[in-house]
Amino acid sequence: MSMFAGGSGLTLDEPVGPLDPTLPTHAEGSLLRRYGPLVPVSLPGGVRTWAATTHEASRIVLEHHPHLVKSPAYWGALQRGELPDGWPLLPFIVGESMLFADGADHRRLRRAVIPAFTPRRVAALAPRIELLTRELLDELSVAADSAPDATVDLKERFAYPLALRIICELFGITGEERQISLRDHYANMLDLAASDTERHAAALGLHEDLRLLVAAKRVAPGDDLTSDLVRTTDGIGMGEGGTDQPGGSKGDDRLTEKELIDTLQLVLIAGHETVLNALTNTVHALLTHPDQLDLLREGEHDWAAALEAGLVWDGPLRNLYMRFAVQDTEILGTTVRKGEPVIVLLAASDRHGTAGPEAGFDITRSHRGHLAFGAGPHFCIGAPLARLEGSIALRELFRRHPRLSLGVSPEELEYVVSPAVNGVTALPVRLG
Ligand code: HEM
Repeated sequence: MSMFAGGSGLTLDEPVGPLDPTLPTHAEGSLLRRYGPLVPVSLPGGVRTWAATTHEASRIVLEHHPHLVKSPAYWGALQRGELPDGWPLLPFIVGESMLFADGADHRRLRRAVIPAFTPRRVAALAPRIELLTRELLDELSVAADSAPDATVDLKERFAYPLALRIICELFGITGEERQISLRDHYANMLDLAASDTERHAAALGLHEDLRLLVAAKRVAPGDDLTSDLVRTTDGIGMGEGGTDQPGGSKGDDRLTEKELIDTLQLVLIAGHETVLNALTNTVHALLTHPDQLDLLREGEHDWAAALEAGLVWDGPLRNLYMRFAVQDTEILGTTVRKGEPVIVLLAASDRHGTAGPEAGFDITRSHRGHLAFGAGPHFCIGAPLARLEGSIALRELFRRHPRLSLGVSPEELEYVVSPAVNGVTALPVRLG
Protein backbone atom coordinates (compact mmCIF):
# COMPACT_ATOMS: atom_id res chain seq x y z
CA MET A 1 0.00 0.00 0.00
CA SER A 2 1.30 3.46 -0.88
CA MET A 3 2.78 5.67 1.80
CA PHE A 4 0.39 8.37 0.53
CA ALA A 5 -2.74 6.37 1.28
CA GLY A 6 -5.31 8.49 3.14
CA GLY A 7 -7.69 7.53 5.93
CA SER A 8 -9.80 5.25 3.69
CA GLY A 9 -6.77 3.08 2.87
CA LEU A 10 -7.78 3.09 -0.81
CA THR A 11 -5.20 3.98 -3.45
CA LEU A 12 -5.21 4.19 -7.22
CA ASP A 13 -2.64 1.39 -7.30
CA GLU A 14 -5.41 -1.03 -6.33
CA PRO A 15 -8.68 -0.27 -8.19
CA VAL A 16 -11.72 -1.97 -6.63
CA GLY A 17 -12.76 -3.04 -10.14
CA PRO A 18 -13.53 -1.81 -13.65
CA LEU A 19 -16.34 0.62 -14.37
CA ASP A 20 -18.79 -1.49 -16.31
CA PRO A 21 -21.06 0.39 -18.76
CA THR A 22 -23.16 -2.77 -19.23
CA LEU A 23 -24.31 -2.53 -15.60
CA PRO A 24 -27.38 -0.39 -14.88
CA THR A 25 -26.19 3.11 -13.92
CA HIS A 26 -27.77 3.25 -10.47
CA ALA A 27 -26.90 -0.35 -9.56
CA GLU A 28 -23.25 0.34 -10.36
CA GLY A 29 -23.38 3.52 -8.26
CA SER A 30 -24.78 1.64 -5.23
CA LEU A 31 -22.22 -1.10 -5.65
CA LEU A 32 -19.26 1.28 -5.69
CA ARG A 33 -20.67 3.50 -2.93
CA ARG A 34 -20.18 0.61 -0.52
CA TYR A 35 -16.41 1.19 -0.77
CA GLY A 36 -16.74 4.87 0.12
CA PRO A 37 -17.41 8.32 -1.34
CA LEU A 38 -14.25 8.23 -3.46
CA VAL A 39 -13.30 4.90 -5.02
CA PRO A 40 -10.39 3.86 -7.28
CA VAL A 41 -11.67 2.16 -10.47
CA SER A 42 -10.30 1.24 -13.88
CA LEU A 43 -11.61 2.45 -17.24
CA PRO A 44 -11.31 0.64 -20.61
CA GLY A 45 -7.68 -0.10 -21.44
CA GLY A 46 -6.82 -0.38 -17.74
CA VAL A 47 -6.63 3.41 -17.28
CA ARG A 48 -7.18 4.21 -13.59
CA THR A 49 -9.21 6.96 -12.00
CA TRP A 50 -10.91 7.90 -8.77
CA ALA A 51 -14.72 7.97 -8.96
CA ALA A 52 -16.94 10.14 -6.74
CA THR A 53 -19.93 8.01 -5.75
CA THR A 54 -21.94 10.21 -3.36
CA HIS A 55 -23.65 13.55 -3.74
CA GLU A 56 -21.33 15.12 -1.16
CA ALA A 57 -18.14 13.87 -2.84
CA SER A 58 -19.41 14.82 -6.31
CA ARG A 59 -20.22 18.34 -5.15
CA ILE A 60 -16.77 18.76 -3.63
CA VAL A 61 -15.15 17.59 -6.87
CA LEU A 62 -17.31 19.76 -9.15
CA GLU A 63 -17.31 22.92 -7.10
CA HIS A 64 -14.20 24.91 -7.27
CA HIS A 65 -11.92 22.59 -5.31
CA PRO A 66 -8.68 24.59 -5.24
CA HIS A 67 -6.52 21.58 -6.04
CA LEU A 68 -8.58 19.93 -8.78
CA VAL A 69 -8.33 21.28 -12.34
CA LYS A 70 -9.61 20.29 -15.77
CA SER A 71 -6.55 20.82 -17.89
CA PRO A 72 -5.14 17.41 -18.92
CA ALA A 73 -1.67 18.97 -18.73
CA TYR A 74 -1.90 17.93 -15.06
CA TRP A 75 -2.77 14.28 -15.76
CA GLY A 76 0.25 12.22 -14.75
CA ALA A 77 -0.60 9.11 -16.81
CA LEU A 78 -1.16 11.17 -20.00
CA GLN A 79 2.05 13.13 -19.55
CA ARG A 80 4.00 9.91 -18.93
CA GLY A 81 2.58 8.43 -22.18
CA GLU A 82 0.83 5.58 -20.35
CA LEU A 83 -2.51 5.69 -22.20
CA PRO A 84 -3.15 3.00 -24.83
CA ASP A 85 -2.94 4.19 -28.45
CA GLY A 86 -6.30 5.48 -29.75
CA TRP A 87 -7.81 5.37 -26.24
CA PRO A 88 -11.53 5.85 -26.96
CA LEU A 89 -12.33 8.08 -23.99
CA LEU A 90 -9.79 10.74 -24.94
CA PRO A 91 -12.36 13.02 -26.68
CA PHE A 92 -14.13 13.36 -23.31
CA ILE A 93 -10.94 14.63 -21.71
CA VAL A 94 -8.73 16.48 -24.19
CA GLY A 95 -9.63 19.44 -26.39
CA GLU A 96 -9.33 23.18 -26.72
CA SER A 97 -12.73 24.26 -25.44
CA MET A 98 -13.79 25.70 -22.08
CA LEU A 99 -14.55 22.22 -20.77
CA PHE A 100 -10.86 21.41 -20.60
CA ALA A 101 -9.57 24.79 -19.40
CA ASP A 102 -9.13 26.53 -16.06
CA GLY A 103 -8.84 30.04 -14.68
CA ALA A 104 -8.45 32.96 -17.09
CA ASP A 105 -8.40 30.70 -20.15
CA HIS A 106 -11.63 29.05 -19.08
CA ARG A 107 -13.29 32.42 -18.51
CA ARG A 108 -12.18 33.68 -21.94
CA LEU A 109 -13.52 30.61 -23.76
CA ARG A 110 -16.77 30.66 -21.79
CA ARG A 111 -17.29 34.39 -22.33
CA ALA A 112 -17.32 33.79 -26.09
CA VAL A 113 -20.53 31.73 -25.96
CA ILE A 114 -22.33 33.49 -23.10
CA PRO A 115 -24.10 36.04 -25.36
CA ALA A 116 -25.94 33.15 -27.06
CA PHE A 117 -27.37 32.00 -23.72
CA THR A 118 -28.51 35.21 -22.05
CA PRO A 119 -32.07 35.02 -20.64
CA ARG A 120 -33.22 37.29 -23.48
CA ARG A 121 -31.68 35.16 -26.27
CA VAL A 122 -33.00 31.95 -24.69
CA ALA A 123 -36.52 33.32 -24.14
CA ALA A 124 -36.55 34.50 -27.77
CA LEU A 125 -36.12 30.87 -28.87
CA ALA A 126 -39.38 29.77 -27.18
CA PRO A 127 -41.68 30.35 -30.19
CA ARG A 128 -39.29 28.42 -32.49
CA ILE A 129 -39.04 25.56 -30.01
CA GLU A 130 -42.84 25.43 -29.78
CA LEU A 131 -43.14 25.37 -33.55
CA LEU A 132 -40.51 22.64 -34.00
CA THR A 133 -42.18 20.60 -31.25
CA ARG A 134 -45.60 20.86 -32.90
CA GLU A 135 -44.21 19.95 -36.31
CA LEU A 136 -42.69 16.78 -34.89
CA LEU A 137 -45.89 15.94 -33.04
CA ASP A 138 -47.84 16.42 -36.29
CA GLU A 139 -45.52 13.89 -37.97
CA LEU A 140 -46.05 11.47 -35.08
CA SER A 141 -49.83 11.88 -35.28
CA VAL A 142 -49.81 11.00 -38.98
CA ALA A 143 -47.86 7.83 -38.17
CA ALA A 144 -50.26 6.98 -35.34
CA ASP A 145 -53.36 7.57 -37.50
CA SER A 146 -52.12 5.17 -40.15
CA ALA A 147 -51.43 2.38 -37.59
CA PRO A 148 -53.34 3.12 -34.37
CA ASP A 149 -52.18 0.01 -32.49
CA ALA A 150 -48.52 0.26 -33.45
CA THR A 151 -45.86 1.56 -31.10
CA VAL A 152 -43.53 4.41 -32.02
CA ASP A 153 -40.05 5.01 -30.64
CA LEU A 154 -40.38 8.36 -28.90
CA LYS A 155 -36.64 8.74 -28.50
CA GLU A 156 -35.91 8.31 -32.21
CA ARG A 157 -39.01 10.06 -33.56
CA PHE A 158 -39.38 12.95 -31.11
CA ALA A 159 -36.60 13.59 -28.57
CA TYR A 160 -33.69 13.03 -30.95
CA PRO A 161 -34.87 15.22 -33.87
CA LEU A 162 -36.24 17.94 -31.59
CA ALA A 163 -32.97 18.36 -29.67
CA LEU A 164 -30.97 18.22 -32.92
CA ARG A 165 -33.11 20.79 -34.74
CA ILE A 166 -32.86 23.21 -31.82
CA ILE A 167 -29.08 22.97 -31.54
CA CYS A 168 -28.74 23.38 -35.31
CA GLU A 169 -31.04 26.40 -35.15
CA LEU A 170 -28.70 27.86 -32.53
CA PHE A 171 -25.71 27.17 -34.81
CA GLY A 172 -27.45 28.63 -37.87
CA ILE A 173 -27.48 25.28 -39.73
CA THR A 174 -30.36 24.59 -42.05
CA GLY A 175 -30.93 21.44 -44.07
CA GLU A 176 -31.79 18.11 -42.51
CA GLU A 177 -28.94 16.31 -44.26
CA ARG A 178 -26.27 18.52 -42.72
CA GLN A 179 -27.88 18.17 -39.31
CA ILE A 180 -27.90 14.38 -39.49
CA SER A 181 -24.34 14.26 -40.81
CA LEU A 182 -23.12 16.22 -37.77
CA ARG A 183 -24.95 13.95 -35.36
CA ASP A 184 -23.82 10.74 -37.05
CA HIS A 185 -20.20 11.86 -36.98
CA TYR A 186 -20.19 12.70 -33.30
CA ALA A 187 -22.13 9.54 -32.33
CA ASN A 188 -19.58 7.39 -34.21
CA MET A 189 -16.69 9.33 -32.74
CA LEU A 190 -17.88 8.46 -29.21
CA ASP A 191 -18.93 4.89 -30.00
CA LEU A 192 -16.79 2.48 -27.96
CA ALA A 193 -17.88 -0.43 -30.15
CA ALA A 194 -16.42 1.22 -33.28
CA SER A 195 -12.83 0.52 -34.40
CA ASP A 196 -10.04 3.07 -33.94
CA THR A 197 -10.14 3.75 -37.68
CA GLU A 198 -13.91 4.35 -37.68
CA ARG A 199 -13.69 6.68 -34.68
CA HIS A 200 -10.82 8.58 -36.27
CA ALA A 201 -12.74 8.94 -39.56
CA ALA A 202 -15.80 10.20 -37.66
CA ALA A 203 -13.71 12.79 -35.78
CA LEU A 204 -12.29 14.04 -39.10
CA GLY A 205 -15.79 14.13 -40.62
CA LEU A 206 -17.16 16.18 -37.73
CA HIS A 207 -14.21 18.57 -37.91
CA GLU A 208 -14.76 19.01 -41.64
CA ASP A 209 -18.50 19.68 -41.23
CA LEU A 210 -17.77 22.33 -38.62
CA ARG A 211 -14.94 23.85 -40.68
CA LEU A 212 -17.29 24.23 -43.65
CA LEU A 213 -19.95 25.77 -41.41
CA VAL A 214 -17.44 28.33 -40.11
CA ALA A 215 -16.27 29.13 -43.65
CA ALA A 216 -19.89 29.70 -44.75
CA LYS A 217 -20.59 32.01 -41.79
CA ARG A 218 -17.44 34.02 -42.52
CA VAL A 219 -18.87 34.79 -45.95
CA ALA A 220 -22.49 35.25 -44.87
CA PRO A 221 -22.80 35.83 -41.11
CA GLY A 222 -26.15 35.49 -39.41
CA ASP A 223 -27.77 35.97 -36.03
CA ASP A 224 -26.45 32.71 -34.62
CA LEU A 225 -23.83 31.25 -32.28
CA THR A 226 -21.44 30.25 -35.07
CA SER A 227 -21.36 33.80 -36.45
CA ASP A 228 -20.86 35.21 -32.91
CA LEU A 229 -17.88 32.90 -32.43
CA VAL A 230 -16.43 33.74 -35.84
CA ARG A 231 -16.63 37.45 -34.95
CA THR A 232 -14.83 36.78 -31.64
CA THR A 233 -12.19 34.69 -33.40
CA ASP A 234 -11.58 37.35 -36.02
CA GLY A 235 -11.53 40.12 -33.41
CA ILE A 236 -14.44 41.94 -35.05
CA GLY A 237 -16.12 44.47 -32.76
CA MET A 238 -13.60 43.88 -29.96
CA GLY A 239 -11.74 47.17 -30.06
CA GLU A 240 -8.01 47.73 -30.32
CA GLY A 241 -5.17 45.69 -28.92
CA GLY A 242 -5.87 42.16 -30.18
CA THR A 243 -2.96 39.80 -30.75
CA ASP A 244 -2.80 36.41 -32.36
CA GLN A 245 -2.16 34.86 -28.96
CA PRO A 246 -5.53 34.26 -27.31
CA GLY A 247 -5.68 35.43 -23.73
CA GLY A 248 -2.15 36.72 -24.15
CA SER A 249 -2.88 40.41 -23.83
CA LYS A 250 -5.22 42.25 -21.53
CA GLY A 251 -8.68 42.62 -23.02
CA ASP A 252 -8.06 40.21 -25.90
CA ASP A 253 -10.87 37.68 -25.98
CA ARG A 254 -10.05 36.16 -29.36
CA LEU A 255 -10.26 32.43 -29.99
CA THR A 256 -7.89 30.44 -32.17
CA GLU A 257 -9.38 28.58 -35.13
CA LYS A 258 -8.95 25.29 -33.22
CA GLU A 259 -10.70 26.72 -30.15
CA LEU A 260 -13.56 27.91 -32.37
CA ILE A 261 -14.11 24.43 -33.85
CA ASP A 262 -13.68 22.68 -30.49
CA THR A 263 -16.18 25.07 -28.88
CA LEU A 264 -18.77 24.30 -31.57
CA GLN A 265 -18.10 20.59 -31.11
CA LEU A 266 -18.55 20.89 -27.34
CA VAL A 267 -21.82 22.80 -27.61
CA LEU A 268 -23.14 20.35 -30.21
CA ILE A 269 -22.45 17.26 -28.08
CA ALA A 270 -23.20 18.86 -24.70
CA GLY A 271 -26.41 20.39 -25.98
CA HIS A 272 -27.82 17.47 -27.96
CA GLU A 273 -27.12 14.13 -26.32
CA THR A 274 -27.99 15.53 -22.88
CA VAL A 275 -31.32 17.10 -23.83
CA LEU A 276 -32.52 14.14 -25.83
CA ASN A 277 -31.81 11.69 -23.00
CA ALA A 278 -33.15 14.05 -20.31
CA LEU A 279 -36.42 14.27 -22.23
CA THR A 280 -36.64 10.53 -22.90
CA ASN A 281 -35.77 9.63 -19.30
CA THR A 282 -38.37 12.05 -17.92
CA VAL A 283 -41.14 10.72 -20.18
CA HIS A 284 -40.12 7.21 -19.12
CA ALA A 285 -40.31 8.24 -15.44
CA LEU A 286 -43.74 9.85 -15.90
CA LEU A 287 -45.19 6.86 -17.74
CA THR A 288 -44.02 4.52 -14.98
CA HIS A 289 -45.27 6.86 -12.19
CA PRO A 290 -48.87 7.64 -13.24
CA ASP A 291 -49.66 9.31 -9.89
CA GLN A 292 -47.07 11.99 -10.76
CA LEU A 293 -48.48 12.37 -14.26
CA ASP A 294 -51.95 12.91 -12.78
CA LEU A 295 -50.65 15.81 -10.68
CA LEU A 296 -49.37 17.45 -13.86
CA ARG A 297 -52.56 16.82 -15.80
CA GLU A 298 -54.58 18.33 -12.96
CA GLY A 299 -52.41 21.44 -13.27
CA GLU A 300 -51.13 21.20 -9.69
CA HIS A 301 -47.52 21.32 -10.81
CA ASP A 302 -45.82 22.57 -13.93
CA TRP A 303 -43.81 20.71 -16.55
CA ALA A 304 -40.61 22.40 -15.45
CA ALA A 305 -40.97 20.57 -12.11
CA ALA A 306 -41.36 17.29 -13.99
CA LEU A 307 -38.15 17.87 -15.94
CA GLU A 308 -36.27 18.77 -12.76
CA ALA A 309 -37.50 15.59 -11.05
CA GLY A 310 -36.54 13.58 -14.14
CA LEU A 311 -33.02 15.05 -14.13
CA VAL A 312 -32.52 14.01 -10.51
CA TRP A 313 -34.22 10.61 -10.73
CA ASP A 314 -32.52 9.46 -13.90
CA GLY A 315 -30.09 12.10 -15.17
CA PRO A 316 -28.79 11.86 -18.76
CA LEU A 317 -25.09 11.92 -17.83
CA ARG A 318 -23.77 8.69 -16.37
CA ASN A 319 -20.15 9.79 -15.73
CA LEU A 320 -18.42 13.16 -15.95
CA TYR A 321 -14.75 13.20 -16.99
CA MET A 322 -12.16 14.36 -15.51
CA ARG A 323 -10.53 16.58 -12.89
CA PHE A 324 -6.83 16.27 -11.99
CA ALA A 325 -5.10 16.88 -8.66
CA VAL A 326 -2.41 19.56 -8.88
CA GLN A 327 -1.08 18.41 -5.50
CA ASP A 328 -1.82 15.64 -3.01
CA THR A 329 -5.37 16.37 -1.93
CA GLU A 330 -7.59 14.88 0.74
CA ILE A 331 -11.28 14.47 -0.09
CA LEU A 332 -13.54 13.04 2.61
CA GLY A 333 -10.74 10.99 4.15
CA THR A 334 -9.16 9.75 0.91
CA THR A 335 -5.92 11.06 -0.57
CA VAL A 336 -5.85 11.78 -4.29
CA ARG A 337 -2.20 12.07 -5.26
CA LYS A 338 -0.76 14.78 -7.49
CA GLY A 339 -1.46 14.00 -11.17
CA GLU A 340 -4.28 11.52 -10.45
CA PRO A 341 -7.67 11.92 -12.13
CA VAL A 342 -11.16 12.01 -10.56
CA ILE A 343 -14.45 11.40 -12.34
CA VAL A 344 -18.00 11.86 -11.05
CA LEU A 345 -20.70 9.16 -11.23
CA LEU A 346 -23.20 11.91 -11.88
CA ALA A 347 -26.59 10.24 -12.41
CA ALA A 348 -26.05 7.76 -9.59
CA SER A 349 -24.85 10.34 -7.06
CA ASP A 350 -27.71 12.67 -7.92
CA ARG A 351 -30.39 10.00 -7.46
CA HIS A 352 -28.75 8.94 -4.21
CA GLY A 353 -28.56 12.67 -3.54
CA THR A 354 -29.88 15.17 -1.12
CA ALA A 355 -33.17 13.43 -0.27
CA GLY A 356 -31.74 9.92 0.20
CA PRO A 357 -32.01 6.80 -1.93
CA GLU A 358 -35.62 6.02 -0.96
CA ALA A 359 -37.01 9.38 -2.12
CA GLY A 360 -38.17 8.13 -5.52
CA PHE A 361 -39.37 10.11 -8.52
CA ASP A 362 -41.31 12.97 -6.98
CA ILE A 363 -42.27 16.11 -8.87
CA THR A 364 -43.67 17.79 -5.73
CA ARG A 365 -40.32 17.84 -3.93
CA SER A 366 -37.82 20.69 -4.15
CA HIS A 367 -34.80 19.55 -6.12
CA ARG A 368 -32.63 22.51 -5.26
CA GLY A 369 -28.97 21.67 -5.07
CA HIS A 370 -29.03 18.82 -7.58
CA LEU A 371 -25.94 18.28 -9.72
CA ALA A 372 -27.43 17.31 -13.09
CA PHE A 373 -26.12 20.55 -14.62
CA GLY A 374 -22.84 20.33 -12.72
CA ALA A 375 -21.62 22.89 -10.18
CA GLY A 376 -18.85 25.44 -9.81
CA PRO A 377 -17.08 27.23 -12.66
CA HIS A 378 -18.06 24.67 -15.33
CA PHE A 379 -21.77 24.81 -14.43
CA CYS A 380 -23.76 24.11 -17.59
CA ILE A 381 -24.09 27.17 -19.82
CA GLY A 382 -27.09 25.65 -21.60
CA ALA A 383 -29.18 24.91 -18.47
CA PRO A 384 -31.80 27.64 -19.14
CA LEU A 385 -32.17 26.47 -22.75
CA ALA A 386 -32.38 22.80 -21.70
CA ARG A 387 -35.07 23.66 -19.14
CA LEU A 388 -37.04 25.63 -21.72
CA GLU A 389 -36.79 22.87 -24.35
CA GLY A 390 -37.69 20.17 -21.84
CA SER A 391 -40.72 21.86 -20.37
CA ILE A 392 -42.15 22.89 -23.76
CA ALA A 393 -41.62 19.39 -25.17
CA LEU A 394 -43.25 17.65 -22.18
CA ARG A 395 -46.20 20.05 -22.10
CA GLU A 396 -46.92 19.76 -25.82
CA LEU A 397 -46.41 15.99 -25.92
CA PHE A 398 -48.86 15.22 -23.12
CA ARG A 399 -51.31 17.87 -24.31
CA ARG A 400 -51.42 16.29 -27.78
CA HIS A 401 -51.40 12.71 -26.49
CA PRO A 402 -53.03 12.65 -23.06
CA ARG A 403 -53.33 8.87 -23.17
CA LEU A 404 -49.69 8.24 -24.01
CA SER A 405 -48.51 4.92 -22.55
CA LEU A 406 -45.45 2.66 -22.64
CA GLY A 407 -45.53 0.25 -25.58
CA VAL A 408 -43.56 -2.46 -23.74
CA SER A 409 -43.20 -3.46 -20.11
CA PRO A 410 -40.55 -1.40 -18.26
CA GLU A 411 -38.40 -4.55 -17.82
CA GLU A 412 -38.10 -4.90 -21.59
CA LEU A 413 -36.43 -1.50 -22.04
CA GLU A 414 -32.74 -1.67 -22.88
CA TYR A 415 -30.12 0.82 -21.82
CA VAL A 416 -27.43 2.45 -23.94
CA VAL A 417 -24.00 0.92 -23.22
CA SER A 418 -21.92 4.06 -22.84
CA PRO A 419 -19.18 5.39 -20.57
CA ALA A 420 -20.90 8.79 -20.48
CA VAL A 421 -24.62 8.64 -21.28
CA ASN A 422 -27.48 7.30 -19.17
CA GLY A 423 -30.60 6.51 -21.17
CA VAL A 424 -32.65 3.85 -22.92
CA THR A 425 -31.80 2.75 -26.46
CA ALA A 426 -35.44 3.26 -27.48
CA LEU A 427 -38.68 4.33 -25.79
CA PRO A 428 -41.54 2.52 -27.54
CA VAL A 429 -44.89 4.18 -26.71
CA ARG A 430 -48.52 4.02 -27.79
CA LEU A 431 -49.88 7.44 -28.54
CA GLY A 432 -53.43 6.44 -27.56
C1 HEM B 1 -30.60 18.42 -19.77
C2 HEM B 1 -29.64 18.89 -20.52
C3 HEM B 1 -28.23 19.15 -20.04
C4 HEM B 1 -27.52 18.59 -19.01
C5 HEM B 1 -28.00 17.52 -18.03
C6 HEM B 1 -26.22 19.21 -19.01
C7 HEM B 1 -25.22 18.93 -18.08
C8 HEM B 1 -24.00 19.59 -18.02
C9 HEM B 1 -23.00 19.35 -17.00
C10 HEM B 1 -23.10 18.35 -15.86
C11 HEM B 1 -21.94 20.18 -17.25
C12 HEM B 1 -20.66 20.33 -16.43
C13 HEM B 1 -19.53 19.49 -17.00
C14 HEM B 1 -18.33 19.44 -16.08
O1 HEM B 1 -18.30 20.10 -15.04
O2 HEM B 1 -17.38 18.70 -16.43
C15 HEM B 1 -22.27 20.92 -18.45
C16 HEM B 1 -21.44 21.84 -19.05
C17 HEM B 1 -21.74 22.44 -20.25
N1 HEM B 1 -22.94 22.39 -20.94
FE1 HEM B 1 -24.56 21.34 -20.42
N2 HEM B 1 -26.14 20.09 -20.03
C18 HEM B 1 -27.35 20.10 -20.69
C19 HEM B 1 -27.70 20.88 -21.77
C20 HEM B 1 -26.86 21.76 -22.41
C21 HEM B 1 -27.22 22.56 -23.55
C22 HEM B 1 -28.62 22.61 -24.17
C23 HEM B 1 -26.11 23.22 -23.92
C24 HEM B 1 -25.90 24.19 -25.05
C25 HEM B 1 -26.67 24.29 -26.10
C26 HEM B 1 -25.04 22.87 -23.00
C27 HEM B 1 -23.76 23.36 -23.03
C28 HEM B 1 -22.80 23.13 -22.07
C29 HEM B 1 -21.47 23.71 -22.12
C30 HEM B 1 -20.92 24.61 -23.22
C31 HEM B 1 -20.81 23.27 -20.97
C32 HEM B 1 -19.35 23.57 -20.57
C33 HEM B 1 -19.31 24.66 -19.53
C34 HEM B 1 -17.90 24.92 -19.02
O3 HEM B 1 -17.01 24.08 -19.16
O4 HEM B 1 -17.69 26.02 -18.48
N3 HEM B 1 -25.55 21.97 -22.11
N4 HEM B 1 -23.53 20.54 -18.89
